[in-house]
Amino acid sequence: MCNKAMTSFTFLFLFSYLLNLLPIISSATDTINVSQPLLDGSTLVSKDGTFEMGFFSPKNSTQTTTNRYLGIWYRSIPVRTVVWVANRENPVKDSSSKFSINTDGKLVILSSNNTLVWSANSTEETKAQSPIVQLLDSGNLVLRDEKDSNPQIYLWQSFDYPCDTFLPGMKIGWNLKTGLNRRLTAWKNWDDPSPGDFIWGMVLGNTTELVMWKGTSEYYRSGPWNGVRFNGKTTPLFNLELYSSVDEVYYTYNIGNKSLITRVVLNQSVYSRQRYNLNVENQTWKLYSSVPRDICDTYNLCGPYGNCLANESPPCQCLTGFKPKSVQNYEALDWIQGCVLSEAWSCGVKSKDGFKKFSGLKMPDTTSSWVDQNLTLEDCKEKCLLNCSCTAYANLDVRGDGKGCIIWHGALLDLRVASVPGQDLFIRMVASENGWDKKIVAVVIPVTLLAFVIVFIFSYVYWRKRKLREKTSEENKDEGCEEDFELSSFDFSTIVRATNNFSSDKRLGQGGFGPVYWGTLEDGQEIAAKKLCNSTGQGVKEFKNEVILCAKLQHRNLVKVLGCSTQGGEKVLVYEYMPNKSLDSFLFDSSKSGLLDWSKRFNIIFGIARGLLYLHQDSRLRIIHRDMKASNILLDSELNPKISDFGVARMFSADQTEENTKMVVGTYGYMAPEYAIDGLFSVKSDVYSFGVLLLEIISGKKNRGIFFPDHGLNLLGHAWRLWKESSPMKLVDAALGDTFTVSEVLRCIHVGLLCVQLYPEDRPNMASVIFMLSSENTLPTPKEPGFLIDRTKIAGECSTSNEMKTSTNELTVTLLEAR
Ligand SMILES: *[C@@H]1O[C@H](CO)[C@@H](O)[C@H](O)[C@H]1NC(C)=O
Ligand SMILES: *[C@@H]1O[C@H](CO)[C@@H](O)[C@H](O)[C@H]1NC(C)=O
Ligand SMILES: *[C@@H]1O[C@H](CO)[C@@H](O)[C@H](O)[C@H]1NC(C)=O
Ligand SMILES: *[C@@H]1O[C@H](CO)[C@@H](O)[C@H](O)[C@H]1NC(C)=O
Ligand SMILES: *[C@@H]1O[C@H](CO)[C@@H](O)[C@H](O)[C@H]1NC(C)=O
Ligand SMILES: *[C@@H]1O[C@H](CO)[C@@H](O)[C@H](O)[C@H]1NC(C)=O
Ligand SMILES: *[C@@H]1O[C@H](CO)[C@@H](O)[C@H](O)[C@H]1NC(C)=O
Ligand SMILES: *[C@@H]1O[C@H](CO)[C@@H](O)[C@H](O)[C@H]1NC(C)=O
Ligand SMILES: *[C@@H]1O[C@H](CO)[C@@H](O)[C@H](O)[C@H]1NC(C)=O
Ligand SMILES: *[C@@H]1O[C@H](CO)[C@@H](O)[C@H](O)[C@H]1NC(C)=O
Repeated sequence: MCNKAMTSFTFLFLFSYLLNLLPIISSATDTINVSQPLLDGSTLVSKDGTFEMGFFSPKNSTQTTTNRYLGIWYRSIPVRTVVWVANRENPVKDSSSKFSINTDGKLVILSSNNTLVWSANSTEETKAQSPIVQLLDSGNLVLRDEKDSNPQIYLWQSFDYPCDTFLPGMKIGWNLKTGLNRRLTAWKNWDDPSPGDFIWGMVLGNTTELVMWKGTSEYYRSGPWNGVRFNGKTTPLFNLELYSSVDEVYYTYNIGNKSLITRVVLNQSVYSRQRYNLNVENQTWKLYSSVPRDICDTYNLCGPYGNCLANESPPCQCLTGFKPKSVQNYEALDWIQGCVLSEAWSCGVKSKDGFKKFSGLKMPDTTSSWVDQNLTLEDCKEKCLLNCSCTAYANLDVRGDGKGCIIWHGALLDLRVASVPGQDLFIRMVASENGWDKKIVAVVIPVTLLAFVIVFIFSYVYWRKRKLREKTSEENKDEGCEEDFELSSFDFSTIVRATNNFSSDKRLGQGGFGPVYWGTLEDGQEIAAKKLCNSTGQGVKEFKNEVILCAKLQHRNLVKVLGCSTQGGEKVLVYEYMPNKSLDSFLFDSSKSGLLDWSKRFNIIFGIARGLLYLHQDSRLRIIHRDMKASNILLDSELNPKISDFGVARMFSADQTEENTKMVVGTYGYMAPEYAIDGLFSVKSDVYSFGVLLLEIISGKKNRGIFFPDHGLNLLGHAWRLWKESSPMKLVDAALGDTFTVSEVLRCIHVGLLCVQLYPEDRPNMASVIFMLSSENTLPTPKEPGFLIDRTKIAGECSTSNEMKTSTNELTVTLLEAR
């Protein structure tokens, strides 16, 4: 007995040793051939026993009538961890199906009555002489020809058709010859292996990026490969590799230490890509890392040019040199509009074109990028400077001193602080914003200072001499458009043609300092052209003022200036054309005021407030409009308001808040008392005008020109009286019908009255106005407005001490104090 057992044991040992096939203890096999299918119930086991393959049911119930799938799992791990499933979408309903190689040499799963449940697509046309299927130690199931001398040639392999698990040695990416795209798709559910909507794959482009999708929308982006790793992420334990040739582009990894068992899996229940490592002591999986790691990994959370800082609250901040596109939205934690440059660069203009270096950022979305493997960083910069749509550049490969060039066109999306020392990104902005090397600064500044002192001394001496010789005659230089206003210059003849030589039938109206004409350029674009009156003494200065301001200001509630044009003494400013003209043409026209229902009016109020806030606070310059009125609010085709006419606006440095002026400009009815009387203006004078405008929009009546017969008060006085009588709703324009919500209208009236209070310090600033308009908080009680008295009194008061320059009714008024 003992002898017999001994002999068979020796035989078995010898057998397996000679064939070098199976570990002695395992009776299971790792291969099947044509004549030997794999039945439900038996399994294949890889040579070293790591993986096992067979039919299984994901449900942990013991019933066998549930769905059966053919899959591969870790053999020794107690809780079955499936890494691959063949018939993901077509489960077999009973346990009598089989997996086999059919007569064509294809892998198939057949159900009990021999119907085809699943088949593998072998790409190779050549049929194997003696096909076998083998489960490899890597977890790869391969179909190969036993007769083939090279066992590495696979006719088909499961690694080419990944499910939700990324094992060492697997590839994600493309076979460019066959068009095979290897990507991972999560299970729908823990008990349903069919493909869910959570996908991880590679995007082919000029740079290679891995992207995760949730449905069809981009969910997470790895950042471009930088030679060492994908830019946004790090994984020190694993040897990551990006392979790229004309035939194949793929990403793979392998483990240096074979004793580490690791897998990456897409987990749809939490929409996360998780890496698990096996804890060998108790054979359980330990979560090692997961992506997205934090809120900042969410694709483009902060919008264009917004930087995501995971540890800050709120996480989104504009990059240095940028400001929120909409402060209101940004503050309301709606970041998707992102940021815009604080000061626009000018393509090709030396002083206005440069780059600032940002270190440690994840590289932006590369969808609209261009790459060159061989350019140096310096050449890359030159390349970027040459193309006016280029917004940033960086090294492509960070190895060594860095090489290659990647250039971005258009807005930079999906920025965040990189988790590893990131690479340097150079973003285009005004030259003064350029990050200077500290060493250079240390040398350059003292030298420059010294040079300045010397130059200053010499110039001072020279200036003294010169001053003695001649008293300079101060003249306003006739400056044209071409000066660096950053605006495009139109040919004067083009404007003449477009407006039919400023013909009167094209006249749209009268702006500050000149009539405005409607015109059509040759390319069909409609424009509004403001021709500055030669006769107005302030024309040149205001023109310059407006040009400079408009070039610097960009906001969706400010009218956009397209360019300007000069010839001889003629000056023309070209604006985008607003088909709906100005607000007053709707508001004060009984046939059209009905078109503005309450929601439109509220939108207009809000838009004006946002535009003003931008002027007052958010643009780098502090700007006071000084002539806010209904006729200066233009309406686009969707009736969105745009503030226009900056002819009389004043710039302040940011710390200056109030100025006394010798020249009072503005429009009666809208002018704050302290401004009209003392020439003292500040942002609060604009707030006053806004308040008047607000009450006009609600009432549909002009503050000026309308006097209520019963009490002889103007609109402000009327509104105040109704407020005191607790019947403010009587103010509301009858044309509104019942389209409004009472609370919203009341709030607006309340805010309007707060804005027109007599003392500037009592009036809210525009930020508070926006806050008050949009929140439900209780508001302070308004005090009595300024200018309750009627117009004639004020005009009389002014004209006694001031020279007055005005023409007809609604025109901007210029008052000059006697010098
Ligand atoms: C298939 O494998 C079995 C056992 O490994 C063997 O007996 C049989 O001859 C093989 N058939 C072919 C066609 O190779
Ligand atoms: C097994 O089934 C029970 C209920 O049927 C479920 O609560 C549990 O999560 C399942 N276990 C696994 C590992 O899926
Ligand atoms: C084979 O069985 C399946 C269900 O398992 C059934 O849908 C199919 O009609 C059957 N085919 C034949 C030829 O009997
Ligand atoms: C096999 O190829 C066909 C056509 O190319 C495709 O429709 C099918 O989905 C493929 N099947 C598998 C399992 O990849
Ligand atoms: C790649 O760059 C080339 C120019 O080098 C450009 O023509 C092409 O459109 C780019 N492709 C993509 C997908 O960005
Ligand atoms: C591999 O990992 C095991 C356990 O993690 C460790 O004991 C062993 O020293 C490692 N081997 C090498 C070559 O790093
Ligand atoms: C998905 O992730 C959650 C949370 O980490 C975990 O509880 C769950 O087991 C995971 N599911 C799978 C299939 O790994
Ligand atoms: C397995 O062991 C690790 C530490 O060795 C422990 O943290 C973990 O909780 C254990 N898991 C289980 C399921 O016991
Ligand atoms: C870049 O350099 C490599 C080797 O230095 C060369 O083979 C390749 O042709 C170059 N590519 C271009 C576009 O110049
Ligand atoms: C600048 O780049 C854009 C986008 O790649 C391209 O369409 C355009 O032709 C380039 N312009 C110049 C002058 O190279």
